[in-house]
Amino acid sequence: MSKKIFISGVAGFLGSHLADAMLKAGHEVSGCDNLLGGYLENVPDDVEFFQVDCRYLNTMNKLLRGVDIVYHTACTAYEGLSVFSPHLVCQNTFQITATLASAAVSQGVQRFVNCSSMARYGQQERVPFTEDMKPKPQDPYGISKLAAENLLNCLSDVHGIEVVHAVPHNIIGPRQKYDDPFRNVASIMTNLMLQGRQPIIYGDGEQKRCFSFVQDDIDCLNKLAFMPEVVGEIINIGPDEEFVTINELAKIIAELLDFKLNPVYVPDRPQEVKLATCSADKARKVLGYKTQYNLRQGLQEIIDYIRQRGVHKFRYHLDVEIYSEKTPKTWKNKMF
Ligand SMILES: NC(=O)c1ccc[n+]([C@@H]2O[C@H](COP(=O)([O-])OP(=O)(O)OC[C@H]3O[C@@H](n4cnc5c(N)ncnc54)[C@H](O)[C@@H]3O)[C@@H](O)[C@H]2O)c1
Repeated sequence: MSKKIFISGVAGFLGSHLADAMLKAGHEVSGCDNLLGGYLENVPDDVEFFQVDCRYLNTMNKLLRGVDIVYHTACTAYEGLSVFSPHLVCQNTFQITATLASAAVSQGVQRFVNCSSMARYGQQERVPFTEDMKPKPQDPYGISKLAAENLLNCLSDVHGIEVVHAVPHNIIGPRQKYDDPFRNVASIMTNLMLQGRQPIIYGDGEQKRCFSFVQDDIDCLNKLAFMPEVVGEIINIGPDEEFVTINELAKIIAELLDFKLNPVYVPDRPQEVKLATCSADKARKVLGYKTQYNLRQGLQEIIDYIRQRGVHKFRYHLDVEIYSEKTPKTWKNKMF
């Protein structure tokens, strides 16, 4: 049966891919975005789009009238930046969740699918991170994501709105912002190398990650809107099979581009987790998750996308609030 879906952050990477999938399945989709991130052209034509910030409660109440399902993807998802811009990141992570949740409850929305982040786990004793671990976020972004989860669980207990938490991790693919100096390492490196410039790597580059191609995750994210058994659950979304270091990531992109690699190394960013991977066991079991794209295929899709759209200069579009000797010089000196 066709549902009315509202996607916050619909001009963003995940929000726009979700919108496509929902439209394809025959649902009615509306959404909003303040265009702090994302690209306007990401919004599919058939989405009823509102260029508005989620922080306005009255407006959110109006936009959620008659909506069955909210997908909350809007966020300034800047983990590294969050210790230097806590006001910006918390406002657009925790506070907007509270606002949207308030409107969702008032308007009788049935289900609220919340995009959390693996930053909620922080530094754990072992990897991969499993959903039953006690969260220990260690930066304002992760702290806000966990607080947003708790807030939604509380409103669900009190008012009965169905809540599901997705934990997407290191998802890559076309439509991801690649001219943003603060986030999206694979897209940043590709944009730099396509400009004939060397990638910049924080620390020794031996941080390990597990990247996931967006199409592998969208199906799972969709199911979270409809399956009765996922209500109240938190589920990691993404693979746990192909680990790479940031150094290896740069090498693979360089190979795909036939680029002579000689990365520029800069000091570590404070609080960056060295080894961060999530288990996909629960997603496999509950949502039938299966990795179909390997890392090289995903990176090739990014390369094709940036080539087709054109390389872009980096835009320092966000305020760095705290300048100190710890503020990365990549941002202080606009090195990208
Ligand atoms: N992509 C990933 O790998 C990943 C990993 C972990 C968590 N997530 C989470 O998934 C969600 C989507 O991530 P994404 O990669 O698509 O990010 P994105 O930046 O591409 O999309 C987020 C969108 O939200 C919009 N936005 C930000 N603040 C807003 C506000 N106050 N009002 C309205 N719109 C606002 C931005 O303009 C942007 O278009 C986020 O909650 C993020 O924390 C993503």
